Amino acid sequence: MANNHVKSVSMTDTELGRIVVEKNLATSEEVEECLAEQKQLAADNRQPALSDLLVEKGIVTKRQIDRIIKSMEELRPAQQIPGYQILEKLGSGAMATVFKAKQLSLDRLVAIKVLPKRFSENPEYVERFYREGKAAAKLNHPNIVQAIDVGEANGYHYFVMEYVEGHTLYDELIAGKVFSESEALDIAIQITRALVHAHENGLIHRDVKPKNIMITKDGVAKLADMGLARMAADEQTAQAEAGKAYGTPYYISPEQIRGEVDIDFRADIYSLGATLYHMVTGRVPFDGPTPVAVMNKHLKEPLTPPDHINPSLSVGLGEVVETMMAKRREDRYASTTDLLMDLESIARGEPPLQVHKTLDARMLSALTKEEPTAKPAEEVSASKTSSNEIIIYILLALLGISIIVNILQALT
Ligand SMILES: Nc1ncnc2c1ncn2[C@@H]1O[C@H](COP(=O)(O)OP(=O)(O)OP(=O)(O)O)[C@@H](O)[C@H]1O
Ligand SMILES: [Mg+2]
Repeated sequence: MANNHVKSVSMTDTELGRIVVEKNLATSEEVEECLAEQKQLAADNRQPALSDLLVEKGIVTKRQIDRIIKSMEELRPAQQIPGYQILEKLGSGAMATVFKAKQLSLDRLVAIKVLPKRFSENPEYVERFYREGKAAAKLNHPNIVQAIDVGEANGYHYFVMEYVEGHTLYDELIAGKVFSESEALDIAIQITRALVHAHENGLIHRDVKPKNIMITKDGVAKLADMGLARMAADEQTAQAEAGKAYGTPYYISPEQIRGEVDIDFRADIYSLGATLYHMVTGRVPFDGPTPVAVMNKHLKEPLTPPDHINPSLSVGLGEVVETMMAKRREDRYASTTDLLMDLESIARGEPPLQVHKTLDARMLSALTKEEPTAKPAEEVSASKTSSNEIIIYILLALLGISIIVNILQALT
């Protein structure tokens, strides 16, 4: 059945004629004129292509024609998907290309992710691709890009999803935008709500990063690409992937880098923390010349607190981001709902209470443990605690001095 939809590999003159007119490169009269001339020449046994005639007559340049042909070739795989009319390419990532399309039955816009044919030959990729569709279909949330359909046509595997009109958070960061605390919190809160929904349904995203956060014209943030999402209990899948770090190094959690098999919701909290860090400081938390260097820093290098880079940030935001990005997942939030409560508190100008709950629990467990474990994350929090203590001592001393001065003044 899919074969009925196969088109010839080269672009037809009718297609080309339609596109040059659509792109305002030629008028329909000019195209008609070239087609009439083409017919005449065919009678003389000459068969020039429409593209040659358009260039010859100076209507369109060779470069413009080449560009159109290239973009048409990119659209071709998706054009073989029955029920959808492909409109344009939206972008491509490490694994697939995404197209904007019209779902003919419902007359609505959708986005279609198509795997390249070479990947279709790889059962591991194909399996992952279907898992993405099934995992995403289980979710329904305004801050998650909705999955619509998944299938295969003419050897191409595709995944249909809600079309999001807007841009990615990555687009804004790459343009050099540093977000104000309230702007960043607005996006982080929306994505945390998406994560609460996913985590409650046993799904972990595993690839939270600016490229997977889409922002609509009305400022709604949507988590895209449950590409690496899977059921949290899917031990077998995890075992099969042990040792492979699939995420992007700038936002990946230490446990994913280590290839641990029991990745849980705290990996998403770390990645969202790294994304939030990037938004409010304008830089990624750890940078380096190679992906390996970046990953090593995630594992070992203490995090420069975000409020040290951008002093306009509140202390609360600094504490929350540091807790989200704790090296040991035990030191992060105990639940995504706790994180949501704290982000909402700071947005209201109140202190993050859950972070202190986490800190208290950590201090209590440190006190009850006999052997101190010298993990980098603990070194960071320990140094933070001791500096807090020094501040408290100084404040107490100042208070004491002021009381003595007051008493002396009252006596004299
Ligand atoms: N549902 C959607 N609606 C509109 N545009 C989308 C949608 N999904 C993806 N896009 C666009 O397509 C681009 C490619 O997406 P894709 O998921 O293939 O890769 P990525 O997330 O950018 O990168 P990577 O492969 O490194 O994860 C995105 O950057 C985005 O601009
Ligand atoms: Mg993506």
